[in-house]
Amino acid sequence: MAREEPLTVADVARLAEARLTKELWDYVEGGSGAEITLAANRAALDAVSVLPRVLTGAGTVDPSTRLVGTDAALPLAVAPMAYQRLLHPDGEQAAAEAAAAAGVPFVVSTLSSVSVEEIAKTGATTWFQLYWLRSRDFVASLVARAEEAGCAALVVTVDVPIMGRRLRDLRNSFALPGDVVAAHLDEGVVGRAHDQVAGESAIAAHTAAAFVPGLTWTDVSWLRERTSLPLVLKGVLDPRDAELAVESGVDAVVVSNHGGRQLDGATPSITALPAIAEVLAGRAGVLLDSGVRSGTDILRALACGADGVLVGRPVLYGLAADGARGAGGVLSLLAEEFRAAMTLAGCADTGAVRALSTVRTARA
Ligand code: FNR
Ligand code: LAC
Repeated sequence: MAREEPLTVADVARLAEARLTKELWDYVEGGSGAEITLAANRAALDAVSVLPRVLTGAGTVDPSTRLVGTDAALPLAVAPMAYQRLLHPDGEQAAAEAAAAAGVPFVVSTLSSVSVEEIAKTGATTWFQLYWLRSRDFVASLVARAEEAGCAALVVTVDVPIMGRRLRDLRNSFALPGDVVAAHLDEGVVGRAHDQVAGESAIAAHTAAAFVPGLTWTDVSWLRERTSLPLVLKGVLDPRDAELAVESGVDAVVVSNHGGRQLDGATPSITALPAIAEVLAGRAGVLLDSGVRSGTDILRALACGADGVLVGRPVLYGLAADGARGAGGVLSLLAEEFRAAMTLAGCADTGAVRALSTVRTARA
């Protein structure tokens, strides 16, 4: 009998695409500009070849680890992604239920369409992702709200001074439907992303109006003084910035190009990772995102120096395909693939994965 369950993330992506409108699929799947970085993320991951170890006695494997001070069943957290009720009526609540069942942290976006308090009720370990809104008092109130809701870390996204030029959204005149709102934002303070204007992206317009475009390290220091939560900077690609992050008291960085959605032409995250891991040398944690689609990719990221990965779009594919069950299916699939990859590479634990060697191979 044929197995009907999806066998790969790509299988789930096909199910999601079939269920979504073109505009929504384009918003989720698309990148910025000519989508060079979006494609380069995949090509660069595929060009990382791992040297498996043999005869290590790793008959059973333990994929669990600690990420930014949080226990995780896998070296993986669900990336912060805005407006998940676009994909399923249960939105972030369903995705967080899936993360809780999988035992991995769920990163709540500032632009979440379900409140952090509701998400916390799922029992998931939550981290809160901060976008720097124009009112500093409002930023401070968001941080306090995240702390109050029990979030275990703060993730400041530093690669969105403005939104990247997402040509698909511009062509589609993309705007949010009325029933999907940013649960943490007070419209009076930060406006809305619902007004359709021909040839424009309403979310880009909202970002331009609501976010501070000229953040500096002084802002990071301001935040560092205001919270005792572990601080993570998401969107670092240059080792010099990783060094500055350590000097600013940051606990971890996410090596990320925002899934190819911000600067088109930015380096693939996996290419930037080794130099950042080297400069940090254990002084701060290192996570990677952008293009992770399989357990093999998680193995590659750890072998190149990451402590763990964030997974973005695959969780949204699962959510769109089948709500909490679909998102959970994606996380189970990644867990199954990662365990198999660990076993095949002779790694009993994630420490052994991090000690694997890699070579870069041009794709034939
Ligand atoms: C994102 N991402 C994102 N990042 C962030 O810090 N805050 C946010 O609100 C969002 N929103 C968002 C929406 C959608 C639809 C996508 C696809 C992505 C970026 C995200 O956290 C992550 O960096 C990338 O998605 C990682 O790449 P992959 O795994 O999607 O290839
Ligand atoms: C995005 C923003 C919301 O990537 O971060 O769509």
